[in-house]
Amino acid sequence: MYVSETLSEKLKSLSVTAPLPKYSNCFPDVNPVDIYRAHLTSILTEVTGVDAKIVYPALQWTQTLEKGDLVLPVPALRVKGKKPDELAAEWVSKFPESPLVHPPTVAGTFLQFFFKVDKLAEILIPSILTRKEAFGQNQYLGLKDVEDPSKGRKRMIVEFSSPNIAKPFHAGHLRSTIIGGFLSNLYEGAGWDVIRMNYLGDWGKQYGLLALGFEKYGDEEALKTDPINHLYEIYVKINKDLSEEKDQIKALEEAGQDASKLKDEGLDEQARRYFKAMTDNDEKAIAQWARFRDLSIKRYKETYARLNIKFDEYSGESQVKQEGMDFAAKRMAEMGVSEESEGAVIVDFSKHVPGKAGKSLERPVIKKKDGTALYLTRDITEMMQRDEKYHFDHMIYVVASAQDLHLRQLFKIIELMGYKELAQKVQHINFGLVLGMSTRKGTVKFLDDILRDVGEKMHEVMQKNASKYEQVENPLATADILGISSVMVQDMSGKRINNYEFNMETMTSFEGDTGPYLQYAHARLCSITRRAALSPEEIASANLSLLTESHAINLIRVISQYPDVVQNTLKTLEPTTILTYLFKMTHTLSSSYDHLRIVGSEKELMKARMALYDAARVVLNNGMRLLGLTPVERM
Ligand code: ARG
Repeated sequence: MYVSETLSEKLKSLSVTAPLPKYSNCFPDVNPVDIYRAHLTSILTEVTGVDAKIVYPALQWTQTLEKGDLVLPVPALRVKGKKPDELAAEWVSKFPESPLVHPPTVAGTFLQFFFKVDKLAEILIPSILTRKEAFGQNQYLGLKDVEDPSKGRKRMIVEFSSPNIAKPFHAGHLRSTIIGGFLSNLYEGAGWDVIRMNYLGDWGKQYGLLALGFEKYGDEEALKTDPINHLYEIYVKINKDLSEEKDQIKALEEAGQDASKLKDEGLDEQARRYFKAMTDNDEKAIAQWARFRDLSIKRYKETYARLNIKFDEYSGESQVKQEGMDFAAKRMAEMGVSEESEGAVIVDFSKHVPGKAGKSLERPVIKKKDGTALYLTRDITEMMQRDEKYHFDHMIYVVASAQDLHLRQLFKIIELMGYKELAQKVQHINFGLVLGMSTRKGTVKFLDDILRDVGEKMHEVMQKNASKYEQVENPLATADILGISSVMVQDMSGKRINNYEFNMETMTSFEGDTGPYLQYAHARLCSITRRAALSPEEIASANLSLLTESHAINLIRVISQYPDVVQNTLKTLEPTTILTYLFKMTHTLSSSYDHLRIVGSEKELMKARMALYDAARVVLNNGMRLLGLTPVERM
């Protein structure tokens, strides 16, 4: 635990004289509520006789403020011989006067603690206003050793988005992008060294076919201006040709005629040969494929930038090395993990994992009869390559739940290969489907189409308020941001695993818990700041004891929870944990405006309220950016 000099001074001035004892996982400098935890723990150890190590983690934060700011479930202290309500009553009667908290109240088997809000305001608001963007973050958590920061930070790879070149960027990729971007921000804020990785689908026979398609239908200009759409068009055309060829072969064979010429020289065979040339490192073939890949990545980058996402590495199926795959194949055979079956190599999990679990893992193929490696084979080697290259402490795969089985197989194989430690460092973060995702012009194929469409929709919505619209400096850019917020907030509203319906009308509405609502709440705070026009010094010198109204008190208590909410999100790994909190806090905020006016108030009161609104704006801004949103100042 770390208490800086400024904080100790502050506590002294609030007559918290006893030094705060040290607890692991207690960071008063970054989380003001930890001051209360530490303070309450030292009182409670006296009162209950229970060890601080048990008391401290038993103090829980609450979702609803009526229940208190912190609660203690009495049974969690494991005191034997008396009933929880007797203990509670006894402890309350012994509880000394505290400068920070009111005497506790009993509710069932819980002790409820309410903070003295005047003191809370004096600790919390200056802390928010000085830490600004960093408020809510806790860089200590990612340290390998909190006592010795020189040992460095823990390293995390977040693999997400991972679209397939020349194929549609579907809802699964969209969700992976949103959730993965969020998780990366979350861990970065917790002090981890985060590597954002995109694992492209960029290898396989279909990319040989794509190259043939380009020879036939390609256009250099179109490739350069719009590689994603152009390659997709080509891919669709050439696949149509391929399926026609298959029909022809079938028809010939059914008629008892010779189809060997088509089979030996047709598209399918040519694609196979082209891909073979790629795997054999044929210079021309590789150069062409690399161009497709580079141009596509360039385009992806532009789109990701709109979502505030930047990848550290564009990996992909093509980056898996042949030596690596040979090594893995050998290892699997030696360890008895894989076996031959009808000319192919497979893993029969029922032989390695007993019972139902083994059966449920099925019998995936690792190497086809003709020797080609598969999606799973590449993932096995890629994981080993990443381990070697990055020495990560943890790795997250953000992939749709449609691939649950694939990832379970992958993780189990790594474990069976004898890499237990590696298998324990990897985690699949899954998510459900998006239903009915289509734009107004038809079914979506690419992320850009969705973003353009919601942006246009938001532009229409904005134009309905002409006077406001005129004040927005760059309405199209703002509409674009609002559109993106609509999509992202809708995506993050429920638990990840839930499916949801893509609904353009609801997501772009200002009513209800939507992206535009959140943006509006932020823009409104910015507008209050602009109109009050107080200097930072004036705000810093505010007399916070003037914040006595119940609305002010509630707002202070809600914003004090933010660091705990972030901490809790590191457990749930659900964007909705943050989002639900932000809506709770903006609702509290919007019901306060009428009661806590700035304009027309006396100067000192104005300063105090402005400090509170400023703190609220910082928290909202930080929460939004953590989710990957771009908070707007006007709309
Ligand atoms: N490209 C894959 C797809 O679109 C997703 C990749 C997921 N990541 C992985 N390591 N397998 O389905």
